[in-house]
Amino acid sequence: MPQRFEVPKDQLPALLQAMPKAELHMHIEGSLEPELIFALAQRNGVALRYPSVEALRAAYAFTDLQSFLDIYYAGASVLLTEQDFDDMAWAYLLKAKADNVVHTEMFFDPQTHTERGVPFEVVIKGLSRACDRAQAELGVSASLIMCFLRHLSEDAALKTLAEALPYRQYFIGVGLDSSESGHPPEKFARVFAQCKALGLHLVAHAGEEGPPAYILAALDVLHVERIDHGVRCLEDLKLVERLAQQGTALTVCPLSNIKLCVFKTMPEHNLKTLLDHGIKVTINSDDPAYFGGYINQNFLATFAGLDLDASDAYTLARNSFEASFVPDTVKQVWIAQLDSAFAPFAS
Ligand code: HPA
Ligand code: ZN
Repeated sequence: MPQRFEVPKDQLPALLQAMPKAELHMHIEGSLEPELIFALAQRNGVALRYPSVEALRAAYAFTDLQSFLDIYYAGASVLLTEQDFDDMAWAYLLKAKADNVVHTEMFFDPQTHTERGVPFEVVIKGLSRACDRAQAELGVSASLIMCFLRHLSEDAALKTLAEALPYRQYFIGVGLDSSESGHPPEKFARVFAQCKALGLHLVAHAGEEGPPAYILAALDVLHVERIDHGVRCLEDLKLVERLAQQGTALTVCPLSNIKLCVFKTMPEHNLKTLLDHGIKVTINSDDPAYFGGYINQNFLATFAGLDLDASDAYTLARNSFEASFVPDTVKQVWIAQLDSAFAPFAS
């Protein structure tokens, strides 16, 4: 039985912001704010196509995933040194702390950087330095998931995995991102099999723009533990039943889905329907600097658009802990904190 809570409507936004939560789907390169892009471009002598912060921000009008990715990869071109990666991740981790994120599993795209000649070691050392500092200074638990770019070949992914192996202790798992359509999960079967044998956690973007068949292939061919996005599962009710029954989490990113035109408006988003089907849904920010908000803004906009209530808030936050890649003992500590935050509202 799901737990029930009642909160006066005007107090719900404060509870959404204050409740402890985990973030399981965010791309650290997607947290680069235009101001930081310009600061790093100046520090590194990198030329940008846009004359000002305002002009860059004005270009954030996307029609689909690819129109976003083109700008996202251009933004990442300012990252050159370990300090740059540290600065970027630290800026996000401060935002996460402010949003009461107690645990975050951050994606990074090494190929976006190694293809430009930035060594893998520079990327991972800078990011992990910020993660260590977040634990020490903010009490925020932060880990890294290395994503393969699906528009590149599987051989390129295998090469990246080989480059990453000396730094195995710095990341907890692997994912699959970038242009989905035309790049089905099967393309990466061999590299994911190797990652599984290495004991890495496995996730993949599937069913954001791609069909339900991509979600099935992510489960059955790649053997992923969570599906990133997955919102198109509703086109296959047998798949919906399976996801609910298995307890496979979907890391849904509502503001991203609106910005990339997966749904026209928030009231049309299917997150509530997914919850009603018993799927383990979580709310995440994806690329917060590009999509109009960090995790709490995603919660606020989703709750306003879909008229969700305090019981949904509890479920979503609890799901974020249950679906995280930490030991059960740690999950229980955070769930106890969540229970305390909701105790005054139990009905
Ligand atoms: N989808 C696919 N690839 C991505 C995304 C996304 O939303 N954000 C960054 N890389
Ligand atoms: Zn994503």
